[in-house]
Amino acid sequence: MATTNLGPVLSAFERRPESLIPLLQSVQESLGYLPPDVLGTVARHARVPRSRVYGVASFYSQFRFNPVGRHRVAVCRGTACHVGGARFILEQLERTLEILEGQTTEDMEYSLETVACIGCCGLAPCISVNDEVSAKLTPMKVRKQFKKARK
Ligand code: FES
Repeated sequence: MATTNLGPVLSAFERRPESLIPLLQSVQESLGYLPPDVLGTVARHARVPRSRVYGVASFYSQFRFNPVGRHRVAVCRGTACHVGGARFILEQLERTLEILEGQTTEDMEYSLETVACIGCCGLAPCISVNDEVSAKLTPMKVRKQFKKARK
């Protein structure tokens, strides 16, 4: 199904192995993730084995094999945020959203993930929601912010 919409995305890239990573990035940007049926199409276009596409896509954490929610919640686990209690922020989010890291809520509203430093170390601990940063968080602040949004 998703494959049929890929024509314009594929045609922007040369049919050679060097196109593989930017091609995967572009496909993911277009579809939100990399559905399994798309990997073969990408492999044929980049002229590489399907196993290589899968290998590359699973090696880099930027690539996803599952759809993500409308709101991508990313908990920073960089050093400053780790020291500032990122683990407790993550645990609170897991409780409030009722999902674990790497999962998406059933209504497809929220996905929860962890990332390396998001560049606001002086304001740790931080999270981002669709690239908008919330800083100097506490588990209580997070609970309030997301409890409201889940109602
Ligand atoms: S370590 Fe979290 S913003 Fe840098």
